[in-house]
Amino acid sequence: MGVDGSNRSQGAGELLADRQEEVAAAARALRAGGLVLLPTETVYGLGADASNPAAVAAIFEAKGRPRFNPLIAHVADLETAASIADFDDRAWALAKEFWPGPLTIVAPIKDTTAVCDLARAGLDTVAIRVPGHPVSHAVLDAFGGAVVAPSANRSGRPSPTTFADAVAETGDKAAAALDGGPCAVGLESTVVSVLEGQVRLLRPGAVTRVQLQQIVGPLAEAEDDAKRSPGRLALHYAPDAPVRINAKTPAAGEAFLAFGPWPGGAGVFNLSPTASLGEAAANLFSFLRAADRTQPTAIAVAAIPEEGLGEAINDRLRRAAGFVG
Ligand code: TXA
Ligand code: MG
Repeated sequence: MGVDGSNRSQGAGELLADRQEEVAAAARALRAGGLVLLPTETVYGLGADASNPAAVAAIFEAKGRPRFNPLIAHVADLETAASIADFDDRAWALAKEFWPGPLTIVAPIKDTTAVCDLARAGLDTVAIRVPGHPVSHAVLDAFGGAVVAPSANRSGRPSPTTFADAVAETGDKAAAALDGGPCAVGLESTVVSVLEGQVRLLRPGAVTRVQLQQIVGPLAEAEDDAKRSPGRLALHYAPDAPVRINAKTPAAGEAFLAFGPWPGGAGVFNLSPTASLGEAAANLFSFLRAADRTQPTAIAVAAIPEEGLGEAINDRLRRAAGFVG
């Protein structure tokens, strides 16, 4: 691993062979109560032992995160998840379909020591997922327990999707940092609650509403924003420059995040020249950061269709622009 943010792409086998020592060191750091920068398929996370309140407190401190905002517990497999949370048939069905992968399931907590009160912000539910990235999987496997990991950005800023961005955000707080290359998905996981037989979409993400419905049928009505996912701040995922969404063209002085065919030029960052929502999601946070570095008067962003992954992209953009979704 280099702290230069170099990208690497490896198969799981090769990874286990040449990174065992690094993985073991990360697991040791977690056991000692340290924080670890971890790649996942969605975004980089800043992880800590979920059962250790002092380690969890250090995460809130490192991110400057309000303590009423609960964290996601990451585990190596479905069995570990089911020992921590109370999964009904629908939660099982979702887990079997989408894990390992970018879906977080909120369910009643069963084992309150495995994921401590502070990590859950005192709630009687827990958010849990099995990430798909081979590096985070290897660390979770070596560690054995649950690792809470919020996105590795400082609170309110765009989530890091490259190793270099993660190191720049919170690397100074981490006892170990693992380079997993650029995140394939680029947006945080979809969060659903499965409580009292009802499935609700709390945060749109890579697993789309339609994909969820294919497994569990129609979703229950979402509650208002503050209630459904505590701590989702109005201004979130925000770069330093103001963000202007649904822009047709950039004004003088503005950077532009285009979508679809668009002439290049200074200050233009094309999320996807072919109008692919997957490519746009993967590029979104790193392009917001790159646009920000040009010190524009604002970052104008082209309209993104509200279908499939577009729901999650627009959710993040509305928040970056200061509108609650
Ligand atoms: O893709 C991801 O989910 C990344 C990677 C690192 O796994 N993590 C991430 O964590 O985005 P974070 O902490 O930035 O977002 C966690 C979200 C928040 O919106 C939080 O309010 C919600 O999950 N959440 C956590 N526990 C919850 C609970 N018990 N009930 C409802 N929402 C919960
Ligand atoms: Mg976050």
